[in-house]
Amino acid sequence: MGVKLGILGLGTVGTGTVQLLQDGAGRHPLLQEIEIYRVGVRSLHKHRAVELSTEVLTTDLEAIVNDPAVDIVVEVMGGLEPARSLILKALNNGKHVVTANKAAIARFGAEIFTAANQAGVYVMLEAAVGGGIPVIQPLKQSLSVNRINAITGIVNGTTNYILTRMQTEGSNFSDVLADAQQLGYAEADPTADVEGLDAADKIAILASLGFDGRINLQDVYCEGIRQVSKTDIAYAEKLGFVIKLLAIAKRNISSFSSSLSVRVHPTLVPKAHPLASINGVYNAILVEGEPIGQVMFFGPGAGAGATASAVSSDILNLVAVLKTKTVDPNLLLACGHQEYCQIAP
Ligand code: NDP
Ligand code: HSE
Repeated sequence: MGVKLGILGLGTVGTGTVQLLQDGAGRHPLLQEIEIYRVGVRSLHKHRAVELSTEVLTTDLEAIVNDPAVDIVVEVMGGLEPARSLILKALNNGKHVVTANKAAIARFGAEIFTAANQAGVYVMLEAAVGGGIPVIQPLKQSLSVNRINAITGIVNGTTNYILTRMQTEGSNFSDVLADAQQLGYAEADPTADVEGLDAADKIAILASLGFDGRINLQDVYCEGIRQVSKTDIAYAEKLGFVIKLLAIAKRNISSFSSSLSVRVHPTLVPKAHPLASINGVYNAILVEGEPIGQVMFFGPGAGAGATASAVSSDILNLVAVLKTKTVDPNLLLACGHQEYCQIAP
């Protein structure tokens, strides 16, 4: 019997994911086990870039998360509500969840992971930070033995795309933002990108993983790129810098105490710094730890294909668990830990 997916949302990420799962030939043997069983949308009358039968598409998202036949719920609809409630219902109904929703995880992570632990199911969120870049699993698994001292990243593709084009072409902010929306990089409300809020959500998630802490979003200093002008960029250039929207989580250690500062703001980055050359929609996350030193994750930070890659790998991990009826220790490390993502609302 196939593993049945209930997908909430068929926008940029949902469409990319369905396309990737439907075009499974030769990619991964477990793709054959997947059935796209239901897909929930707001409107049944929109043109869709993928072919789905009329029984699959529905506007009744509650019915998807309550349907006993659904094994995995894939939440790619975005927003806080009804996404939060639907994720919680899916978990309480014993379904594994894959989500790309950093806004919901950064605010309701504690509630969501507690529900998952109680139900004995997994929540997977590789796509929530860095688009297609594998960073959540590596941070929790491969680097878990390190003492992380700093995480510094370009974690918003839209703003990096805008800043890059302002710098290289002298383009206007609003024209480039429209292009980023057209390309599917921006959030439904691009204010979250431009004001740095999306980056704040992502660094809060990364910091909670890297520092095993509880990050209150209100404690994350956040300043976006709206005030950055072409003149600022030109002066920075002359002085040997580029302007990047950086998300930073840093352990401050003194001889008496240790604290954590988490912030997002436009930053003058020296041209020789590894983050200075990350351009366009690309993201990069520089992790500094002991004993490992510096590790940098780099790749496409937004867009349909890149994000579908992350969502689909999470789905495949869960399909492997469901098909083999074994518990994958990697998943346990990543998602089964009670403390994981305990960010105060
Ligand atoms: P879109 O706005 O393109 O798509 C949202 C989809 O969800 C649409 O299909 C919409 O239906 C459906 N939807 C939204 N609200 C409802 C509702 N209340 N009831 C029913 N259906 C609803 O968003 P994206 O695909 O860009 O983003 C989805 C998620 O992925 C977000 O959490 C985003 O932050 C995250 N993400 C996005 C990335 C990107 O590059 N775009 C990258 C990484 C993460 P309809 O089509 O009928 O309007
Ligand atoms: N709007 C987000 C960005 C999507 O531009 O980075 C990826 O999370």
